[in-house]
Amino acid sequence: MTFKTKLRWSDVTPQALFLNRRQIMSGGAALLASPALGKSPYSTDDAPNTFEEIAGYNNYYEFGTAKEDPAAYAGTLTTHPWTVQVDGLVDKPGTYDLGDLISGMTMEERIYRFRCVEAWSMIIPWQGFQLSSLLNKLGVQAGAKYVAFETLVRPEEMPGQQNNILDWPYVEGLRLDEAMHPLTLIATGLYGQPLPNQNGAPIRLVVPWKYGFKNIKAIVRISLTDTQPASTWNKMAPQEYGFYANVNPQVDHPRWSQASERRIGAGILAGRQDTLMFNGYGDDVASLYAGMDLAANY
Ligand code: MTE
Repeated sequence: MTFKTKLRWSDVTPQALFLNRRQIMSGGAALLASPALGKSPYSTDDAPNTFEEIAGYNNYYEFGTAKEDPAAYAGTLTTHPWTVQVDGLVDKPGTYDLGDLISGMTMEERIYRFRCVEAWSMIIPWQGFQLSSLLNKLGVQAGAKYVAFETLVRPEEMPGQQNNILDWPYVEGLRLDEAMHPLTLIATGLYGQPLPNQNGAPIRLVVPWKYGFKNIKAIVRISLTDTQPASTWNKMAPQEYGFYANVNPQVDHPRWSQASERRIGAGILAGRQDTLMFNGYGDDVASLYAGMDLAANY
């Protein structure tokens, strides 16, 4: 795909990416991230990557396929006002203004390991709230078994959507018990600032024991379903990307190994490190998959 202008990351002031003027004026910024939050006990002790690494090396095909494209092109996405459609097997369906949807949620900071399926990793200080508290507020009905998510479709602001590189909208899903797990976060900020657009503003999913592609950005729809929802990369290449996408060093991607990873920013001398089962969150989540064949359910 081609883009008219090519901004370098260093050409863009970070502050312009953190906050858009209307968010500041409406007080939305205060709602979306609070620098004073304490570190959650769910956090890793690993040192976080820098803001520039986290916001400068992204996968977000709505803005291009290169890692620098989202930082260069996502800045102009309008994220205010923002509405989220809630539907399916839920007590309180509707189209919510984002502020109303997330009001009452307990915001926290969690420093999570992030493992991309491309075998690199980062440590990211997210701010957000547990997806479970939002689902409890909305009222999950008895028959619900899965949660499906959809990203915004707005080709005039998301130039990647002018091509069919993926089937738009980007969609993802979780089993209900995965969605209700305390590690599963809806992020609204990082490094104490509202999410940069390239990281999925204004709200995105963060599921730290799964490969990065499960972490859907710019969510505009949340549906409670009784059947397993489609997920974008699974539709594109089912033999390469499964629905579960749990980080698993023993199950290789068909075209490369998942046994080790390269920590972004660590430098060549640091070398590669062993990938941990469930990205190191096995004590918390392995029980969700008891009795399942994780080579078949990859
Ligand atoms: N969400 C949308 N809507 N579009 C995308 O292309 N890419 C996914 C995921 N969420 C993607 C998306 C992939 S492949 C990864 S690795 C992560 O976002 C990257 O998140 P990050 O850029 O914040 O590190």
